[in-house]
Amino acid sequence: MQFFSTLMATGLFATAVVAHPGPHPEPESHDLAKRNTLARRCAGSVAAMNEKRYNKRNFENRRSLEARANYTDFVNTETPYYDVIQNDTCVLTPSVTQGPYVWPRSQTLRQDMTEGQNGIPFTLDVGVLDMATCEPLEDVLVDFWHCNATGKYSSFTGRSADTPFNELLDSLNLTETYDLGVTDLHTDDTTFLRGMWPTNSEGMMEMQTIYPGFYVGRAIHIHAQVHTNWTLAENGTIASGNTVSTGQLYMPEETNVELMALEPYASHTAINRTTNAEDDIIYQSEDNGYSPIISLVPADGVDMANGVIGYITIGVDTTAIELCDAGGAAGGERTYC
Ligand SMILES: *[C@@H]1O[C@H](CO)[C@@H](O)[C@H](O)[C@H]1NC(C)=O
Ligand SMILES: *[C@@H]1O[C@H](CO)[C@@H](O)[C@H](O)[C@H]1NC(C)=O
Ligand SMILES: *[C@@H]1O[C@H](CO)[C@@H](O)[C@H](O)[C@H]1NC(C)=O
Ligand SMILES: *[C@@H]1O[C@H](CO)[C@@H](O)[C@H](O)[C@H]1NC(C)=O
Ligand SMILES: *[C@@H]1O[C@H](CO)[C@@H](O)[C@H](O)[C@H]1NC(C)=O
Ligand SMILES: *[C@@H]1O[C@H](CO)[C@@H](O)[C@H](O)[C@H]1NC(C)=O
Ligand SMILES: *[C@@H]1O[C@H](CO)[C@@H](O)[C@H](O)[C@H]1NC(C)=O
Repeated sequence: MQFFSTLMATGLFATAVVAHPGPHPEPESHDLAKRNTLARRCAGSVAAMNEKRYNKRNFENRRSLEARANYTDFVNTETPYYDVIQNDTCVLTPSVTQGPYVWPRSQTLRQDMTEGQNGIPFTLDVGVLDMATCEPLEDVLVDFWHCNATGKYSSFTGRSADTPFNELLDSLNLTETYDLGVTDLHTDDTTFLRGMWPTNSEGMMEMQTIYPGFYVGRAIHIHAQVHTNWTLAENGTIASGNTVSTGQLYMPEETNVELMALEPYASHTAINRTTNAEDDIIYQSEDNGYSPIISLVPADGVDMANGVIGYITIGVDTTAIELCDAGGAAGGERTYC
């Protein structure tokens, strides 16, 4: 049997709030410096946590394959592996890079947020580390949202995926008054590709979704937030909680190229996709232990087109919890910042 050395990297990206309108404020340099210091300090723990998750997944895969088929079928299925343990992590700080399409009332508690959306199946295998102690964080709510294969966000399906954000604001007469996190741009109550789930006792959680498509001006990305001390409303949305971090995850450019050539992604021809290199909010500093890029492997060990597993370690700076005002965020009735 193949020995699966290990795995993966991670990335999340955090920025500080800057007082100018627009979907993506610039991060502040002291935030970036702190993030890199934390990432470097916990590198060994990140690598160990990643290895543990990776081995667990391979163990489970093996058991389920054995149950379904002949053992030799499993042996012949080369489960993906990495030669080198990656230490990278995405360290998040409290921040508001949540973008214009954050919509807490549509974020529901579930482990599969696909809701029938077309696209390549994508499993996010997530570890959350407390960067203050370099220990796994138990029972924190990890919250994801991203656009569908042709660039639309649920709850905002009436907004074009192809119109630059400044033009959208112009068309709505909101150029002067738009306030990120406050101005309500939602158009409907759809909830696809939005979901959240708590970490287990080992600081791990998993989310099933599809590989995201793209919309105008941005590299392919997934929004993520981590909440502590959370409680749920009756319908499974968040009722209260402290947001300890916000960030965006990206995928390797070569995989984006490969998968965007396939349907249903390929049918999105109205705009040219923004590559990772062209995106102005991926701040990478790989030599500092920070990376916002998710490590991907084909779920069947062979072909990403059949499904993808992404390994992420989210590093949370719990010393910097953001306490929210009830009702302060977009949508009004919810504590969310
Ligand atoms: C296992 O292998 C045997 C012999 O090759 C074959 O007859 C059988 O159908 C296989 N079972 C499964 C579940 O693939
Ligand atoms: C991970 O971190 C350890 C300890 O800091 C270092 O020795 C190792 O080279 C790093 N691995 C990678 C892939 O960067
Ligand atoms: C959950 O309930 C809140 C009000 O309590 C509502 O605003 C929101 O739309 C509901 N979300 C879903 C997904 O049903
Ligand atoms: C993405 O969502 C929009 C709005 O609901 C829908 O019209 C479109 O068909 C979806 N894209 C795909 C590939 O299903
Ligand atoms: C924007 O303002 C212009 C001029 O004041 C007006 O004609 C137009 O109807 C407004 N558009 C919207 C969407 O409110
Ligand atoms: C957790 O939430 C409860 C109720 O919302 C609140 O009373 C408590 O102070 C919070 N604790 C922390 C550490 O934020
Ligand atoms: C995409 O980029 C190509 C090459 O730069 C250009 O010719 C084409 O007009 C662009 N398409 C759109 C829809 O912007």
